[in-house]
Amino acid sequence: MAPTLSNEILLKAANEFSTPLYVYDEERIHFQYSKLSHAFRKSDVKIFYACKALSNINVLRILQQLGSGIDCVSLNEVQFALKAGFQSNKIIFTPNSVSIDDYKEAVDLKVNINIDNLDILQQFGNIYGNSYPVVVRINPHIMAGGNIKISTGHVDSKFGVSINQVSQILDIKKQTGVVIKGLHLHTGSEIKDLEVFINGLQLMLELSKQFDDLSVIDLGGGFKVPYKPDEKGSNVEELGAKLAEMLDAFKASTNKTFQIWFEPGKFLVSEAGYFLTKANVIKENPTRNFVGVDSGFNHLIRPMFYDAYHIITNISNPKGPVKTYNVVGNICETDTFAWDRELHEVNPGDILLFNNAGAYGFEMSSRFNSRARPAEVLVNKGQLKLIRRRETLEDLLQGQIL
Ligand code: LLP
Repeated sequence: MAPTLSNEILLKAANEFSTPLYVYDEERIHFQYSKLSHAFRKSDVKIFYACKALSNINVLRILQQLGSGIDCVSLNEVQFALKAGFQSNKIIFTPNSVSIDDYKEAVDLKVNINIDNLDILQQFGNIYGNSYPVVVRINPHIMAGGNIKISTGHVDSKFGVSINQVSQILDIKKQTGVVIKGLHLHTGSEIKDLEVFINGLQLMLELSKQFDDLSVIDLGGGFKVPYKPDEKGSNVEELGAKLAEMLDAFKASTNKTFQIWFEPGKFLVSEAGYFLTKANVIKENPTRNFVGVDSGFNHLIRPMFYDAYHIITNISNPKGPVKTYNVVGNICETDTFAWDRELHEVNPGDILLFNNAGAYGFEMSSRFNSRARPAEVLVNKGQLKLIRRRETLEDLLQGQIL
């Protein structure tokens, strides 16, 4: 059974550290990592946590100690990873739309480099020749993911080198001597359909025949986690079995084998995270009941940005009569966490819990309306530890030149 935090401990956290508050369950991160490692035990698979989902160094350290690698999209994320103790060979740098200067710095830091466009591949090859093997991101023209905003492998996406331009990759390789040690794809987030990964692998295996130095196929991240009560996550066990079967068959026919890399973000941390807010205002209007909480899309943007659904529970009154509310924030916009949501009756001061807040929650928070960002707490076997203090007015003013 997947571990979850009890309402009791969450209320204790809210009491002790106030709200709005992000709370992460260390045990659940362990559980998710083990589940994934177990699913891929039959093949040579390496997991690189996509730390854009949640980059608190305390969380990175947990994954580092579990043996995970890490996928970073900016040089600052790489610096966080190094600070958390990841060795450079366990770090992937997967940026897009950055200049050659960022890649040069990544070379100095000796991390794995994933190149996303032909122009940079050419510049990189001109500078480094065959001295620094790289991975190239392919856009496989596969439509996948929960919605278009988190879909990254379709023909119109900005990411990767189009699969129709592989001959140009090969030309650059020939001309500059750049060694391509891996091919990468990432088609989106919240991919329920395993066929997407299977088709992606099949495509990469076909492509691999054109690359003589290849040792890695990186299939990106994007496993689905259940957000709604009736939803199911990606069946990673089934995917692991299928992957092993495909790699064995490929080896039997070509005598070639690859290390497979995955870069999961949500799968490892989403369900480990809880967001706690306090009801400030109850407004019973002629057409709607509103609960106004002490947070807004400045702290959890997913509902407004992606129309994402997060389960919300009134953990202060779990047995009260059920009523229907719009749960809204305190930002001066129509910031709404949920429309027409059934909750146990909410009174001012009640704590509302948002599930599945570990991934892209705090990480996408901002200081809009000049409100401070929340604190973060890590729970390990019942012990609460503050891992980021709540911001203050001084934090908000810091950096401004008066
Ligand atoms: N690898 C690459 C190259 C990525 O771009 C991403 C996510 C991942 C791995 C990890 O994907 P995950 O396993 O977390 O689905 N903010 C959105 C999700 C955007 C994901 C961006 N890239 C959300 O809150 O739904």
